[in-house]
Amino acid sequence: MKIRSPIVSVLGHVDHGKTTLLDYIRGSTIADKEAGGITQHIGATEIPNDTIEEICGNFISRLTIKDLIPGLFFIDTPGHAAFTSLRKRGGALADLAVLIVDINDGFKPQTFEALNILKMYRTPFIVVANKIDMLFGWETHEGASFKESFEQQAQSVKQDLDTKVYEIVGTLHKEGFQSERFDRVSDFASQISIIPISARSGEGIIEVLAMLLGLAQEYLTEQLEINEDAPAKGTVLEIKEEVGLGLTIDSIIYDGVLRTNDEIALMTSSNEVLTTKIRSILRPLPLEEMRDSKKKFRKFDEVVAAAGIKIAAPNLDDVVSGSPLRVLSDNENVEEEILKEIEDI
Ligand code: GTP
Ligand code: NA
Ligand code: MG
Repeated sequence: MKIRSPIVSVLGHVDHGKTTLLDYIRGSTIADKEAGGITQHIGATEIPNDTIEEICGNFISRLTIKDLIPGLFFIDTPGHAAFTSLRKRGGALADLAVLIVDINDGFKPQTFEALNILKMYRTPFIVVANKIDMLFGWETHEGASFKESFEQQAQSVKQDLDTKVYEIVGTLHKEGFQSERFDRVSDFASQISIIPISARSGEGIIEVLAMLLGLAQEYLTEQLEINEDAPAKGTVLEIKEEVGLGLTIDSIIYDGVLRTNDEIALMTSSNEVLTTKIRSILRPLPLEEMRDSKKKFRKFDEVVAAAGIKIAAPNLDDVVSGSPLRVLSDNENVEEEILKEIEDI
């Protein structure tokens, strides 16, 4: 048995800092290049373990899971009101989630919407209170842990931060969740951790990554076991025309293994199941955002979950985004399975 990377979805209201948080972790600047500053598609990035270790150092030295999982597989979702179905899709895929809230703005309509998605799928999550660098009087310490930076703040700034954190605690309480600032949590099974961060300066991101690994270790180890012989299961994010490849589908594979020449079943826009044969599998390099089309993809004969990949195959014209993806090998009930999964979304 092998353990795959946990899929971590980042959810929250528009402009609360989801893409910027992932930019910091990746060392990229995707958020700056988005049209209107708005994310319009689901994104996917693999963050390998050595990057996590580089950021976290000693913070994760006692977490054994870091030696078992290849890394964390992050899904970026749009926060704009128009993209409910994409948020749901991002939420449905998640093993773990980061619910991001602008600490100065508090909960907004799509924060509540995201929270309801997490409730519906019973996804374990942490809350990230972002933009602490905007608190009045905050002294920025680039890349520092929250703990280290917080200790160096003036008393009034510390109080202001805690007042705002307790507003979030109050809101979560009304929604049926017990929560606390992460360093005051006594029972991680019953309390949600709130981690104050700045996605811009990186303060607190060490604790976010360490907490995600800790939760994965505590609650997910069994769920993350993959059978490398099992046929792949995945979800289609987008259908895209690519020069030299024709129509392709961007997909996330969350279980099993997918190979070139596999017969796969997909859903059409008129809710019919279509089958096709994989011509090629392309995968972005680790740390590259899958929807960043200027980046190079590499060809693979097979991929093991979790992976974000582009698939080239004939007959993709009618595939609908959000479609389940199933491999056909000896799987007689695949059509039923796909129809059922569509109903569940
Ligand atoms: P959508 O995907 O459109 O929902 O937005 P988002 O949640 O991905 O937010 P995004 O990363 O696009 O950030 C929105 C704006 O807030 C950008 O101008 C960011 O530079 C800014 N921002 C994000 N995080 C921080 C932060 O920690 N501090 C400050 N000062 N600005 C931030
Ligand atoms: Na934005
Ligand atoms: Mg975004």
